[in-house]
Amino acid sequence: MKALVIGNGGREHTLAWCLLQSADVTEVVCIPGNGGTATLPQCRNLAMTLDDFQGIARFALVNNFTLVVVGPEQPLAAGITDYLQGQGLKVFGPNQAGAQIEASKAWSKAFMVEAGIPTARAEVFTDLNPALAYVEQRGTPIVIKADGLAAGKGVTVATTLNDAIQALKAAFSGKFGVAGQTVVVEDVLLGQEASVLAVTDGTTIRPLLPAQDHKAIGEGDTGPNTGGMGAYAPTPVVTPEIMTQVQRQVLEPAIATLGHRGIHYCGILYAGLMISPEGVPNVVEFNCRFGDPETQAVLPLLETPLHQVMLACIEGRLADFPPLQWKPGAAACVVVAAEGYPDKYPKGMEIFGLAEAAATDALVFQAGTRRQGNAIVSDGGRVLGVTGLGDSFKAAIANAYTAVDHICFENMYYRRDIGYRVMG
Ligand SMILES: Nc1ncnc2c1ncn2[C@@H]1O[C@H](COP(=O)(O)OP(=O)(O)O)[C@@H](O)[C@H]1O
Ligand SMILES: [Mg+2]
Repeated sequence: MKALVIGNGGREHTLAWCLLQSADVTEVVCIPGNGGTATLPQCRNLAMTLDDFQGIARFALVNNFTLVVVGPEQPLAAGITDYLQGQGLKVFGPNQAGAQIEASKAWSKAFMVEAGIPTARAEVFTDLNPALAYVEQRGTPIVIKADGLAAGKGVTVATTLNDAIQALKAAFSGKFGVAGQTVVVEDVLLGQEASVLAVTDGTTIRPLLPAQDHKAIGEGDTGPNTGGMGAYAPTPVVTPEIMTQVQRQVLEPAIATLGHRGIHYCGILYAGLMISPEGVPNVVEFNCRFGDPETQAVLPLLETPLHQVMLACIEGRLADFPPLQWKPGAAACVVVAAEGYPDKYPKGMEIFGLAEAAATDALVFQAGTRRQGNAIVSDGGRVLGVTGLGDSFKAAIANAYTAVDHICFENMYYRRDIGYRVMG
């Protein structure tokens, strides 16, 4: 079979690579793809914009691409699944109604309350003054969240009243466009963050291996948040007991409540968790797609052919599907970025040492890159995700860094402490 992957990040290179691990998948086309998907054997890129649903459908139908995997949240929130399904395609990724679970934090919060899912207490505001009054009464620390998709920049964890006021004023002054016209103000949750991604056909839901990522740019998890500077799986923070609670208190109620709301949800449901010191899996947010870079750490451990899992979800057969098989051991992904990210950073630097890095035991996934003649040049803030596998976290992390040592480009930056929490 042939598969279409929508998106151009490290996640999409990983999805394409993972699909092609099975001999049943003969070809992957990535729209628009990156330097990694341009050079991956049996894979090629197609230059199309992600809002061109008609063009994408036509290409898939004419060329017999039966499976469509949507990577990023924006096209899901814009209804790409509804359109492509309407054209008879098999799409892995929720419809527009389901994507609200990520695309509107106010919707998602009301949903969690209805489903009885453990989460921070919150209030929703559409005007500045009542929001200011609430924050003054509630006190700090407090979390201010723009409602809509804000590319990871819409959340402020405010430790002082002044920070909270500034964050509210910024959101209501239009800093995030329509995404910030509604604001969720919620209590701070304490504990360790972890991500549980689950596959679902709308009725049955099964978790993948739990992961943790490093959001901050600096070592020791300092400095501003990014899209993610590294990730590892399976994180021991999510013990088997906690995973059972996640299944019963988070994933199953979520899928049941989506059903009650008349939403048929197929694809990934990603629970961003804050595991409290008492072991309660509080939900920080839901995402409606694979995480980046969690995917780069989780999917290399998957033994079960990915397209089979996806087709079982699309065809409503997940309950009858055999348990997911995983490789033993651990995986760690080190993100290599351009110096300056997440603010201003240069692009167009030629990347050297990719072949040497790939010749080690590690997997080199490309993110913000493009092919230029025979060279691969940087084309984004997060440039590569280098995944090491091993019997232990120590070995996996060492393998990742051994590969990173082969890579060089001007203004290259990466954290040297990925996985420090699980190194002990
Ligand atoms: N209630 C909360 N308590 C503590 N930290 C939070 C809370 N909500 C969000 N955060 C922090 O802010 C980050 C971003 O918030 P999140 O809701 O995941 O939004 P997004 O990923 O859309 O930016 C989280 O990963 C977490 O570190
Ligand atoms: Mg998040």
